[in-house]
Amino acid sequence: MTESLTVRDNRTGRDYELPITDGTIRAGDLAAIRTDDDEPGIATYDPGFTNTASCRSSITYIDGEKGILEYRGYPIEQLAEDSTFLEVAYLLIHGELPDRSAYDSWVHEITYHTFVHENVKTFMQGFRYDAHPMGMLMASVGALSTFYPESRHINDQQNRHIQMVRLIAKMPTLGAWAFRHAQGKPYVYPDNDLSYAENFLAMLFKMSEQKFRADERLTKALEILFILHADHEQNCSTNAVRSVGSSQVDPYSAVSAGIAALYGPLHGGANEAVLRMLRRIGSVDNVSDYITGVKNGDERLMGFGHRVYKNYDPRAKIIKKATDDVFAVTGVNPLLEIALELEKIALEDEYFVERKLYPNVDFYSGLIYEALSFPPEMFTVLFAIPRTVGWLAQWAELVDDKDQKIARPKQIYTGDRTLDFNPREKRWA
Ligand code: CMC
Repeated sequence: MTESLTVRDNRTGRDYELPITDGTIRAGDLAAIRTDDDEPGIATYDPGFTNTASCRSSITYIDGEKGILEYRGYPIEQLAEDSTFLEVAYLLIHGELPDRSAYDSWVHEITYHTFVHENVKTFMQGFRYDAHPMGMLMASVGALSTFYPESRHINDQQNRHIQMVRLIAKMPTLGAWAFRHAQGKPYVYPDNDLSYAENFLAMLFKMSEQKFRADERLTKALEILFILHADHEQNCSTNAVRSVGSSQVDPYSAVSAGIAALYGPLHGGANEAVLRMLRRIGSVDNVSDYITGVKNGDERLMGFGHRVYKNYDPRAKIIKKATDDVFAVTGVNPLLEIALELEKIALEDEYFVERKLYPNVDFYSGLIYEALSFPPEMFTVLFAIPRTVGWLAQWAELVDDKDQKIARPKQIYTGDRTLDFNPREKRWA
């Protein structure tokens, strides 16, 4: 039996039957509900798309109530434990895990596209000394479209593949150079003997040594953080990539729109806010006063709560475990003690339990990034590098989706109508 929804329009007394598919009705079916043929049909009003599905997708599954996150059906916990970031990238882009030869050639391709045109370097060097690295990243990814003009042939599968490889490969190079720029240090070229995460760390931190070898525990932690951030279905930046991509622009331009969205504090900036909060609390003795302030509505417990997860964010659990490995190398971040105490108290407190507020991905990630000597401005860059994989997988799915059209939401017009224009000379007389 097909499921349906019966709607009565009390303006006309007419009933309409709308088919339900996958728990949704088609917004287009509502357009048939109208008082007369000259009037527009019924639409929905949903700022922020909180209850509107914009696509069908087989990439990432989230069950926020149960705290489940899966990429292409594989639980995030298993991927973080046993896979590499490039294996996860292959999975997200291709929809299945690679066999040995597919994996080897994928890693080879990505590794040999890490270099950027020298003019990109010159271009990046032109930024002000104190340029925000995220602004530099956004501009340089957008600029790549001018180096690869053929990338606009988005329906050519082979062409699309090479552009995706280029973007995934070059993101660490651009991100690391944006970091070096702020420090006034020379840009370090990629080292193709190294793995994806090792090479990124080398481009960030190498000085005069012949070969930079990061501690394996740090490389592993970064690899895990990259896996956890690779995709998160239809969030603000992914929606930006899809919306801009729906105009059939090249993937560099679409991804730079995603970077722009991620730049905003409500999306990519929460882990920085967590650090500021922990510093403000200052000591374990002040935790309980802070929690009282939160419950009185004077403060927010940053790194807690999520629009989708109403349970422990599965990524937060994995990151919390990774902090041990990182701190074993870097020494314990003194703010950790405060974070652990905050979590302990909050998880037992009725205010947080009632509202289903649990730690999210950002609660511990800032502590790790700080321990790795990243300034807060770099945190969103560290998010954008792995998320590029998710953006590209979502973009490619969009390009192949016959249901998709150029994104063009409706509005409810609230302004004036049919005013008479009064020319300047009369208005100002
Ligand atoms: N501290 C204290 N109270 C909170 C918090 C918090 N962090 N989050 C939500 N609440 C309360 C809120 O005041 C409201 O209470 P009441 O019902 O009494 O008015 C209730 O919980 C529901 O909150 P909401 O604001 O309606 O929930 P939302 O889904 O709109 O907001 C959120 C989600 C993530 C914006 C919010 O929880 C928040 O501001 N958290 C802190 C910032 C943060 O950590 N952001 C990172 C999110 S993870 C990023 C990612 O996945 O990429």
